[in-house]
Amino acid sequence: MINKDFNKIVLNKSSLPNDPEKFFEGMSHFRELMMMYQSAIREVTTKLTILNDELSIGNRKNPIQFIKSRVKKPLSIVNKLERLEKEISIESIMNSLNDVAGIRVVCSFIDDVYKISDMLTKQDDIKLIRVKDYIKNPKPNGYRSYHMIIEIPVFFSDSKQWIRVEIQIRTVAMDFWASLEHELKYKKGIEDSKEIEKELKRCANTIAQTDHKMMSIRNKIQGNSSKGGK
Ligand code: GTP
Ligand code: MG
Repeated sequence: MINKDFNKIVLNKSSLPNDPEKFFEGMSHFRELMMMYQSAIREVTTKLTILNDELSIGNRKNPIQFIKSRVKKPLSIVNKLERLEKEISIESIMNSLNDVAGIRVVCSFIDDVYKISDMLTKQDDIKLIRVKDYIKNPKPNGYRSYHMIIEIPVFFSDSKQWIRVEIQIRTVAMDFWASLEHELKYKKGIEDSKEIEKELKRCANTIAQTDHKMMSIRNKIQGNSSKGGK
């Protein structure tokens, strides 16, 4: 159902900027840009799905458990540009923000993270812009994940546009910790508690040890089965 309050806002001319024509033209460029980011997400997700399908042929299980993606919301885009003291424009979004298009790839084991990132960046239509390996170098709070900024060409009717995408690759265990830590961070007062920070870091370390143990269990099982065992 159409929200009556929303109707009022749209029809209220005084809430429009001084130059409505320019405003709507800007809106239309903005929507076009968001469509480009959405297309880039679709392309990268397809590449990841193809890699996952290929790697799961034979007796190997899928290295990717799931993929999530999102295009940054308009308000978050504006807030981030303001925080960076950049102007609010299409050019500025494309030049200053790396995470308008975001993809999270959740893998089974730690070595799957590196396998997937290697295979993706080896593809010759992908430009690797930046890597932050928070698995080899965890953040002080215990956060672990492999972050990449890439650029991918998206072909439209009359042009080719390089679009930036942020890809976060992590294990299910790392994802479990990051999701809960993110949720807790936004609960009142918790961000100031040193004790809670320490506890969360301890959890992150336990989870990292378990991740390594799971990988060695998998290696043992694979070793056994290649010797003819089950
Ligand atoms: P922004 O944080 O996006 O401004 O940029 P940055 O260039 O510093 O990016 P970085 O690669 O360090 O982290 C980007 C994203 O990773 C964040 O937006 C979060 O989604 C995730 N992330 C980074 N640090 C943490 C953390 O401590 N906890 C959780 N839960 N997520 C994190
Ligand atoms: Mg971000």
